[in-house]
Amino acid sequence: MMWKESYRLGVDRIDNQHIELFRMTEKLIEDIAADAPAEVYRESLNFLKDYVIYHFRDEEEYQKSISYAGFEEHHKEHVSFTKTVLEYEKKLEESGFDVSVLKDLAGVVTAWLIYHVADTDQKIVAGKTQSQEEDVELSVNLFSDSAIDVMNTMAGFEKGAVHQKMVKDHVLEGDVFIELPLTGAWEGKAVFGFSRDLALNLVRTMTMMDLQDVDELVISALCELTNISCGNASVLLAGKGIECDIKPPVVKKKEGYAGNAVTGIYIETGIGGLEVVALFDRQQ
Ligand SMILES: [Fe+2]
Repeated sequence: MMWKESYRLGVDRIDNQHIELFRMTEKLIEDIAADAPAEVYRESLNFLKDYVIYHFRDEEEYQKSISYAGFEEHHKEHVSFTKTVLEYEKKLEESGFDVSVLKDLAGVVTAWLIYHVADTDQKIVAGKTQSQEEDVELSVNLFSDSAIDVMNTMAGFEKGAVHQKMVKDHVLEGDVFIELPLTGAWEGKAVFGFSRDLALNLVRTMTMMDLQDVDELVISALCELTNISCGNASVLLAGKGIECDIKPPVVKKKEGYAGNAVTGIYIETGIGGLEVVALFDRQQ
């Protein structure tokens, strides 16, 4: 079961709806593994769509009832996720429920749901707002710290297992490279190099399934994870007066990066390594 007791907000109605959303996500992954026919996915998707709309409305009612200060920001996340699901519905119909599109959807929904419920939703009850107190000197630190936070929220690292160090002329050795183009105050890109171990272990923990291949599902979940990490980093940057826009993640071939020597942060998580590099074309 992908749902964890630690996700509980203590508001039964909302918690039960979250449990249901996790159950639906699990079913989707199982259906893909069992190579179910298009009808099954169509039905699941309709159910997911209706349920997401119903749940978001209900959760937002609750936020209003407690005068939650982060309402507007939270509402935006709900709108954007609803849009994502509708876009996938279109893509699936157009592709005749192609398995790689299905895996993409499953990866995005898994990563989004875990992070949203384990972090964003928790702020409703904790009364937290986005933290801006971080005082990190280097951009790359912001990206790597955010990535560690997000991965930890999603997969829960062993305490004390995470080590990160800045390495000059580090020879990249990752297996899956994901690039996020940056525009605005900084022009360039943030690059994340996941080892195969980390990629599989993260998504195995998230899905509670013994995945063996770095396939579309795994890559899609990693893209969403890096996207969330960079989004968080950009909020921290904005808090320092650095307005930076982050474009959607692009998966890069291992050959393009592995073996290159760069300055970046190497993170050992206990379940695999991650390299985080920021390459700037221009800094204003
Ligand atoms: Fe929410």
